[in-house]
Amino acid sequence: MRVVLLGPPGAGKGTQAERLAEYFGVAHLSTGDMLRAAIAGGTELGRQAEGYVNAGELVPSELLADVVKERLYEEGEFLLDGYPRNVAQAEFLETLEGLTLDGVLYVNVDDDTLVRRLSGRRICPEDGTIYHIENDPPPNGKDCGVCGAELIQREDDREETVRRRLGVYKEETEPLIKFYKSRGLLAEIDGKGTVDEVFTRAAEVLKGYDRGFADDHC
Ligand code: AP5
Repeated sequence: MRVVLLGPPGAGKGTQAERLAEYFGVAHLSTGDMLRAAIAGGTELGRQAEGYVNAGELVPSELLADVVKERLYEEGEFLLDGYPRNVAQAEFLETLEGLTLDGVLYVNVDDDTLVRRLSGRRICPEDGTIYHIENDPPPNGKDCGVCGAELIQREDDREETVRRRLGVYKEETEPLIKFYKSRGLLAEIDGKGTVDEVFTRAAEVLKGYDRGFADDHC
């Protein structure tokens, strides 16, 4: 399956993508994770992207185009999280031959919930596991339950940057809802409720895109 996860910052795209990717046996490709790894690794992409990411702005699309294209062709099938982020990126995706999307899953969550989720998020700097200090705390309250590394707060999860990211989402990314609706690709789910409840909703939609899954489970 080739599916885009669309939704505002904090909607739970990363949380759900990790679980859905494991459940359906498909790659989870996150441009946010790619950029954070490039920044941590001090690569040329990381150096060019860092200022934008930390300010809550979109990284210029041309910086990402080659790396996204390469990863998509490497995998062939994927859950794409954080890309496209604007209409120009969606149009670029449409130019990639043989990578036609099966669908776009829009995870809808209200602003108050988004701010609460982002301000309480903690991540593992080693393996990227996502936690929330209230909703999904790590086993001992501070370290990653998978690898034991000390959890950190993302630089762009500070209050002022969160506000900027929500503004950028509304200006640049929200128009993609209409874009994909007009192509008959959009499915919307309610992103509120527990992680398990949202997972069940998302998996129901994705089963419709995955012929291999239907063959194995019917
Ligand atoms: P990116 O990493 O893509 O950030 P984002 O889209 O802003 O999304 P988030 O990662 O903040 O949220 P999420 O929806 O994944 O939520 P999560 O599952 O973590 O991008 C970061 C930056 O990189 C951008 O600002 C930009 O600068 C740059 N960038 C990336 N892609 C780009 C592109 N294509 N073009 C240009 N620039 C690009 O959940 C959030 C919290 O809520 C967690 O703590 C989690 O535990 C909790 N939670 C999740 N689900 C639930 C639930 N159901 N109930 C309770 N708590 C929950």
